[in-house]
Amino acid sequence: MRILGIESSCDETAVAIYDAEYGIIAEHIASQIETHAKFGGVVPEVASREHLKVLPALVPQVLNEADCDWKDIDGIAVTAGPGLMGALLVGVTYARSVGLVNSIPVLPIHHMEGHLFAPGLSDEGLPAFPFMSLLVSGGHTMLIRVDGLGQYQVVGQTIDDAAGECFDKTARVLGLPYPGGPEIAKLALNGDASVFNLPRPMLNKPNFNFSFSGLKTAVIYAAKGCANFDTQTKADLAAATELAIADVLTKKSINACKAENINNLVIAGGVAANRTLRTMLDKVSEQEGIKLYVPSLKYCTDNASMIAYVGAMRFERGQTIHNDWDANPRWKLPELS
Ligand code: KG4
Ligand code: ZN
Repeated sequence: MRILGIESSCDETAVAIYDAEYGIIAEHIASQIETHAKFGGVVPEVASREHLKVLPALVPQVLNEADCDWKDIDGIAVTAGPGLMGALLVGVTYARSVGLVNSIPVLPIHHMEGHLFAPGLSDEGLPAFPFMSLLVSGGHTMLIRVDGLGQYQVVGQTIDDAAGECFDKTARVLGLPYPGGPEIAKLALNGDASVFNLPRPMLNKPNFNFSFSGLKTAVIYAAKGCANFDTQTKADLAAATELAIADVLTKKSINACKAENINNLVIAGGVAANRTLRTMLDKVSEQEGIKLYVPSLKYCTDNASMIAYVGAMRFERGQTIHNDWDANPRWKLPELS
């Protein structure tokens, strides 16, 4: 079985082909980061136009790389939400059109479900169900108990900003370009986190929810309070922010595993690429007897391989193809489906 995956929910146009026997046989990501960086964030209308320009050429290119023709493709998996409406519509409309013309079934895939299973593309693969998943991206911060494909229970989530959003907003305070996460991580390498004492929001609350908007405000006040906001001070503040985010994510994830009596923790989403977070989780989970599963760096941020992979899981399960679906920018990860 071969599944073509299409991802266009935000600022990456991505196409990949997953083969049930060989794994990912071709993949490509066309990033729009440079286009949006000059605006300091993603401009939805610009994103849609870029997808429209890039996608029709990228699909034949990836088919070609995989030495495939449409007749070799058994199913198309396309991100149908959540994300930017116009951006999603480009992928969904394209997928539906080529599906119709070539008589290939098309499945809508939830973007966060793609992230959730992305570690399954690594050599180590995923643990057996149930496992705990920490999903940390630009728009989501969630702890999910995963009992099977489509069997999700949200154990905790952010009540305001997502962790990635906090990285991006802090980066703006520090005068760094979009996307902020990798920039903060780079700057933090030269910083001393102990210079600033930033809060760990909701760390000691008896639940697994997160809140990052207060941390962002604390960073703004810390920056304003600096008489000399030079490069070293910015690096110190970047390191302190990164450490505060990693600390909260690590402790809440481990506590959630313990509360649910689960020994396997999976992390995914763009923020899962953060080295400080990965190192801290690695250390603490080992101390607590919890096994950690991480996606390879290229499958942390948005890509189509994760969409093709989940598509293959769902096609394999014999998921019925309905036609009554559409792009849904606010599609919620169903707690149980
Ligand atoms: O999963 P993703 O690519 O897109 C969404 O679905 O949102 O996540 C993007 C987010 C951005 O907020 C970006 O700043 C953050 O992930 N990010 C990072 C790193 N790489 C990307 N945050 C911290 N450290 C990184 N190395
Ligand atoms: Zn994403």
